[in-house]
Amino acid sequence: MGKLANNVDGLPLRIPKRPFWTLAGALLTLTAIAAAAVCASIGFRYTASIGFRYTQHRGTAPSKFYANVTQPRGICAGVRGDAASYAGYIGLAGDAEDTPRRSFFWLFEAEEDARDAPVILTVGGGPGTTGLSRPVSGQGPCSLTANGTVPNPDRVTEKYNVLALDHPIGTGFSYGRMVNNSRDGALDVYDFLQKFYVLFPHLAKNPLVISGGSYGGKHVPNIATVIQEQNRALASDSTSSAVHINLESLMISNPTSDPMAHFRWLLYFYCELHSVYDAPTCAAMYAKLPACLDLIELSLQDAGLSERASSARRAAREACLYIAWGGDTHGVMVEDVRRRCDEEDTMECFPLFKWLEQYFRDPVTTRALGIPPFINFTALSGPVDEAFAATGDEMIPTHQLYEPLLTDGIRVLHYIGAQDGNCAWPGVFSFLTRLRTPFQREFLGAPDVPWPTADSDAATVRAVGAGAGNMTYMLISGSGHFPQQEQSALVKDITERWIENRAWF
Ligand SMILES: *[C@@H]1O[C@H](CO)[C@@H](O)[C@H](O)[C@H]1NC(C)=O
Ligand SMILES: *[C@@H]1O[C@H](CO)[C@@H](O)[C@H](O)[C@H]1NC(C)=O
Ligand SMILES: *[C@@H]1O[C@H](CO)[C@@H](O)[C@H](O)[C@H]1NC(C)=O
Ligand SMILES: *[C@@H]1O[C@H](CO)[C@@H](O)[C@H](O)[C@H]1NC(C)=O
Ligand SMILES: *[C@@H]1O[C@H](CO)[C@@H](O)[C@H](O)[C@H]1NC(C)=O
Repeated sequence: MGKLANNVDGLPLRIPKRPFWTLAGALLTLTAIAAAAVCASIGFRYTASIGFRYTQHRGTAPSKFYANVTQPRGICAGVRGDAASYAGYIGLAGDAEDTPRRSFFWLFEAEEDARDAPVILTVGGGPGTTGLSRPVSGQGPCSLTANGTVPNPDRVTEKYNVLALDHPIGTGFSYGRMVNNSRDGALDVYDFLQKFYVLFPHLAKNPLVISGGSYGGKHVPNIATVIQEQNRALASDSTSSAVHINLESLMISNPTSDPMAHFRWLLYFYCELHSVYDAPTCAAMYAKLPACLDLIELSLQDAGLSERASSARRAAREACLYIAWGGDTHGVMVEDVRRRCDEEDTMECFPLFKWLEQYFRDPVTTRALGIPPFINFTALSGPVDEAFAATGDEMIPTHQLYEPLLTDGIRVLHYIGAQDGNCAWPGVFSFLTRLRTPFQREFLGAPDVPWPTADSDAATVRAVGAGAGNMTYMLISGSGHFPQQEQSALVKDITERWIENRAWF
């Protein structure tokens, strides 16, 4: 077998244990989070300027929970100077002084009309990638460089509140007892949002847009599903004082959602559309494909979390890993097949992950964000990744969760970097065409129209429904795995049209 030095796992000469959509490997720091050292008491630091405090609720809504929020100063300066933002922790269900479960968030207020602006909830990929990565690489007021941050002209925070969440617990600055699957993680996000709206009640009425990419293809549909389920339960429960969450739409870039479609189409991308692997490697991979697909199909018979179901998914993952990461790419970067990476340490070709750890470990940053001293930030959490791998979570399909959501009127945008071989577009397009929704027939027949202009080769858009569409698929030709980072001006335009629900032409 060829050596693996050039895949992003950076683990030469052995089959990586890492899932294929992470940028793990070399950067992975196996720091145990010192949860046991937590000594903070249940309490809330009252912040006069926004006037939030505990609200006593009837019924099942959060009545008392840990929250500690600060207004960071002097970091992440934007085009208009210091961005108005709030950062802090909210204790989730099960949180106690000696067994904490605390989610870290950083809310960047919109520059225009923050009180009424939509809220974009943004989570990271991974699983276990910090939710702060997108806000500091395209979405937020500042962008990370090798030397701290610079103002970001392409921020979406001009018009929207961006709520970055280190999700699930164990990721980034969030700490305490973890979950080991996306569904349980989504229940945590619902709990987080209910408590967040207690602290920021004026934002509860504003449209909520959930954004994510890569492993966000698991998180985002699960979070949206739990919100819809809970909204429905709430509508028939007059005793609850939980708030209705005004979920409006979803924005997903280069996701992993449907494992079957992902692997069925991966070699088409690697071996037919591009020459990521040479002919013998492609032949060897094609030979392994039937076993991979069979084991996925077998694992689909039980989507539960029993040990038997988990072990069937782990077996499928094991069988498929070679197809995702098994060969020598001879320097081609899987995350952007136009690029080469000839570094010995392939993480050198993804400097953002290094910058994230430099910046979010810098005492100037952690002091401003109110991070307790026992937290050791990682851009990508090894423990979270391992916990999710144990249940084979990445092999649980999530694409069908979009069917009831779309049918309920939640708008769903997929915007995909065409050069990405990590979560390659053919697998995404394939599952979108198979979603059984009121939009399916029209989606199948709709053209992919060049955008932003008729003769542009920047992107194509296939939209069904009024305005920007209920179900929309965009392919961005000049981007790999990280569209918001690589094409931030274009993605700003996409984001504004999408949220304002304006027609593309
Ligand atoms: C955090 O973890 C990194 C990598 O393991 C280590 O180099 C660093 O010293 C740790 N920092 C603290 C404060 O423990
Ligand atoms: C970052 O700053 C250091 C010290 O100020 C300087 O030596 C280095 O060249 C800078 N790097 C970049 C990429 O600007
Ligand atoms: C809240 O965070 C600050 C750091 O910003 C810390 O000094 C304080 O002890 C925390 N309070 C509680 C109750 O955890
Ligand atoms: C996942 O977490 C649950 C709850 O903590 C636990 O019971 C279960 O054994 C875990 N599953 C695996 C495969 O580790
Ligand atoms: C499509 O989206 C619009 C908002 O633009 C919404 O009003 C409508 O209900 C959705 N259509 C369907 C069939 O869900």
